[in-house]
Amino acid sequence: MKKIIVAGSSNIDFVLRVAEMPKKGETIRTRSFDKIPGGKGANQACAVGKLGGDCVFLSAVGEDGLGSIVTDSLAAAGVDLSRVLRDKETPTGMAVIAVNDEGENSIMIVPGANGLCTEDYFDRNADCLAPGDILLAQLETPVEAIWKLIEKAKAAGCTTILNPAPAPESIPDAVLAAVDYITPNETELAAITGLPTGTVEEIDAAARSLCARGAGRVLVTIGPRGALLCDESGSRVYPTFDAKRVDTTAAGDTFNAGLAVSLAEGASLEEAIRLANAAAAISITRKGAQTSIPSRAEVDQLLQSAQEG
Ligand code: RIB
Repeated sequence: MKKIIVAGSSNIDFVLRVAEMPKKGETIRTRSFDKIPGGKGANQACAVGKLGGDCVFLSAVGEDGLGSIVTDSLAAAGVDLSRVLRDKETPTGMAVIAVNDEGENSIMIVPGANGLCTEDYFDRNADCLAPGDILLAQLETPVEAIWKLIEKAKAAGCTTILNPAPAPESIPDAVLAAVDYITPNETELAAITGLPTGTVEEIDAAARSLCARGAGRVLVTIGPRGALLCDESGSRVYPTFDAKRVDTTAAGDTFNAGLAVSLAEGASLEEAIRLANAAAAISITRKGAQTSIPSRAEVDQLLQSAQEG
């Protein structure tokens, strides 16, 4: 099977459950507090491992107790951690996440060791990019270094997937041209293109504008409506699976990992989106980031029962 190289952040999530998000200047009581392994990169690596992919992770953590919580979680998912940078001087990245009763979240990041994912660090690990492999990257580590990594991966013959989260101020055209799949959610798509994304028609128009700038395929995650794919042959919406929303943290990460794993297995894009939607749908029924990611058996079971029903 093709290797999946996930490049990105590692965080410990400090998760506060609240009835409603606090308003500006307001002090509120929380319902609960949890410390959970997270970070968009680590979540995607963990999900690749749990969904049966062969994952190499490029990331950085501090040599502290928090870093070990993330690496232990990834080791349990079978991720290759041999290239993860462990730094004595810098603390592991952190995220403070508030989740309300509707399962919606607000996230504040302390980058910490994620800032050590520099161009130099990726260059030192560029030998793991082989023709046919898949690079999956997000933007919680320094973006300039990710742009360079994507261009290098493309030149090395990899398939490149960019999950532009959190949304950058802009994406250079040369990077878009090196991206095979870009996977924003509606909010990120609006930020990247400067276009409205309130309706499916608007999402489609904004996605087309990214295709026109050179992106191979634009795959927009649109929450309970599923995902919209836009490529040279047009646009279509792939509906997702019914699921009771408890916490959407890491749903996008699980979707991206599902897409990468299924493509690595040689599935068609349609099948890959179906598996990605199923994995993400299960993840929103559970609390937390890496704690919410389903196993491949659970995803296959959902796909099977949807087919039979
Ligand atoms: O995508 C979810 C992740 O975003 C959380 O785990 C948090 O660490 C932030 O990086």
